[in-house]
Amino acid sequence: MKAIILVGGQGSRMRPLTSHLPKNIVPVCGVPFLTYQIEYLKSVGVKEIVFSIGYRPEDIRAVYGDGRRHGVKIHYALEKAPLGTAGALKNSEKFVKGSPVIVLNGDILTDIPLAKMINFHKKNKDVATLGLVRVEDPTAYGLVLLDKKNYVTKFLEKPAADEIVTDTINAGVYLFEPEVFDYIPAGQNYSAERGLFPSLLKDKKNMGGYVWEGYWQDIGTPWKYLTTHWDILNGAFPVYAEHTSLSNKVYMGKGVKIGKGALLKGPAIIGDGCVIAEGARVLPYSVLGKGCVIEKNSSVTRSVLWDGVSVGSHVQLEEVVLGRHCKVLDFTKLAKGSVLGDHAKA
Ligand code: GDD
Ligand code: MG
Repeated sequence: MKAIILVGGQGSRMRPLTSHLPKNIVPVCGVPFLTYQIEYLKSVGVKEIVFSIGYRPEDIRAVYGDGRRHGVKIHYALEKAPLGTAGALKNSEKFVKGSPVIVLNGDILTDIPLAKMINFHKKNKDVATLGLVRVEDPTAYGLVLLDKKNYVTKFLEKPAADEIVTDTINAGVYLFEPEVFDYIPAGQNYSAERGLFPSLLKDKKNMGGYVWEGYWQDIGTPWKYLTTHWDILNGAFPVYAEHTSLSNKVYMGKGVKIGKGALLKGPAIIGDGCVIAEGARVLPYSVLGKGCVIEKNSSVTRSVLWDGVSVGSHVQLEEVVLGRHCKVLDFTKLAKGSVLGDHAKA
């Protein structure tokens, strides 16, 4: 089977982290996020993936190229202007024409068992199968109502508070038969959630709901992005960065310098070429990119630092996300939940 990943939105809810980087390739535990989705698709034998891209395609191509390094073939379906989630699929159709396809929203991380979902889809012979999960607060998602046989009866994108009648939401994992593409107008902005799904239902096309109780996360806000790191360090997904795994659950890159009396406590990731000075502490659930410097007596806890961050001495960082080449001055304590974009100073 081939797959399409929707790699399009501007990631506005993730600013300032996404001011200079598309959200689909933000680093997650040392690798660009889409790597998790590529590995996920490879687990069911997918060899060809279409990146359906509406924003900063050159950045994504620079990371993945033709896909060879990741063991897949990547096609790029580019949009002159954002086409919306369904318009983007139509724009990718030429690469998958005539065959059923797996579609992923490019910002979700899940262990929905794709192989089982594919079997469910084949057995039911529906035009589409939607992966569904249950969440505590469904307001920010697409609500999906099912009948007793798990057929979708209603799709309600981002409902108002008084319209919330279920906690079951669209997980952004789909299986589509080729016929689905006939329901998408070509060359125009069209939404899967607001246009395509309601029109399939109106036309009495069967869409199956595959409900999953396991792991699911949309990484699209800084807080969810941060906590996804903790989940991965807790073992929800493998750490794909090519680091050495030490006995204290620290994943260590190459050429790291550790000063006297520095403390490293896992689970944590320390990227290539980091310098952890005397008496500094890297505490559990911290992820440091390449070339970060943590000066004397500073501590980093449950935080994510991108490449080249420099942290002065006597600094306390807890539950923060710092973009590339940020600089934190001596004797600074950042509030929990702080997020600094690339090159910011604090
Ligand atoms: N190529 C392309 N072009 N991709 C797009 C476009 C576009 O114009 N607009 C959005 N995308 C991509 C985004 O990059 C993302 O990977 C995916 O489509 C979903 O868009 P989001 O902007 O992240 O949507 P959302 O999170 O508010 O809601 C969607 O995901 C929820 C699950 O996380 C919907 O599908 C909801 O129904 C769903 O519950
Ligand atoms: Mg999203």
